[in-house]
Amino acid sequence: MWRLLSWKMSPQQRLEFVGQALDLGITTIDHADIYQSEAPFGEALALAPSLRQRMEIVTKCGIFLAPPDRSTLRVPHYDTSRAHIVASAENSLRQLRTDYIDVLLIHRPDPLMDADEIAEAFRALHRSGKVRYFGVSNFTPAQYELLNSRHELVTNQVELSPFYLAPLHDGTLDQCQRLKVAPMIWSALAGGRLFSEQSERAERVRAVLNALAAHYGVSPNSIVYAWLLQHPSKPVVLTGSGRFAVAQEAVAATAVTLTREHWFAVWSASMGSDVP
Ligand SMILES: NC(=O)c1ccc[n+]([C@@H]2O[C@H](COP(=O)([O-])OP(=O)(O)OC[C@H]3O[C@@H](n4cnc5c(N)ncnc54)[C@H](OP(=O)(O)O)[C@@H]3O)[C@@H](O)[C@H]2O)c1
Repeated sequence: MWRLLSWKMSPQQRLEFVGQALDLGITTIDHADIYQSEAPFGEALALAPSLRQRMEIVTKCGIFLAPPDRSTLRVPHYDTSRAHIVASAENSLRQLRTDYIDVLLIHRPDPLMDADEIAEAFRALHRSGKVRYFGVSNFTPAQYELLNSRHELVTNQVELSPFYLAPLHDGTLDQCQRLKVAPMIWSALAGGRLFSEQSERAERVRAVLNALAAHYGVSPNSIVYAWLLQHPSKPVVLTGSGRFAVAQEAVAATAVTLTREHWFAVWSASMGSDVP
């Protein structure tokens, strides 16, 4: 929902978009306190409150954006103090016009995070019924391990796309597999750059995606989603498009299984080399 405001939808159109997605089986809705998506989403949800029970709402906290009076000592920063986590979650509930959050994530690893204090905040939010489950985003495996040792986490939301392969190789997805925790994937289409970037790598990746799309009889978007969904950590892949057609392409991807050779065709195009 990061891009929700840019879609220029009326509350009724937002409601229809979400309703159509739910009918397709897309039930996980991703927000953050800093996206400016919670209030417009809550406005739409208020038009049909019964939809709430058909979805899982994820939101995030922990980033403090640039203050209006930015100066040498007024800078964007992370805040994972107990007080901030609880206040942010309570504000998200008000904005989203709901009485519980399904999954609350710490948005980015904070060098000053105190795992015991975060766990205390999580326990308080869980005890009061305000948040059901907790997770993190953009955490290294070591950071995940630390917080998970104090409070059970259910996901690590990370960037992964044919333009960004790091989690495949840095232990992030290995850890998810080991713990049987489904990662969430952001910018699966590299925020749209997959189709617009002018570079040798982009040309290589696009050529492979187009060839695979023709081979499997689906769109290049569906090939990317299928490529991600095929990872054994069983990722939950986010879509960032305001077009319903892209949601349909994501669902179409669940019926596509790439051969191993085809999976590696995408990997090799991204790496610019064959497997060693
Ligand atoms: N945890 C984090 O740190 C973090 C960071 C970033 C994002 N996120 C989450 O991940 C979600 C998805 O991220 P994202 O929006 O970057 O995902 P994305 O799906 O990679 O990018 C969406 C963009 O791609 C464009 N697009 C889709 N299909 C296209 C095509 N065939 N040709 C050209 N452009 C195309 C969309 O434009 P149209 O709308 O015109 O289709 C949209 O602007 C966000 O909404 C947010 O919830 C999390």
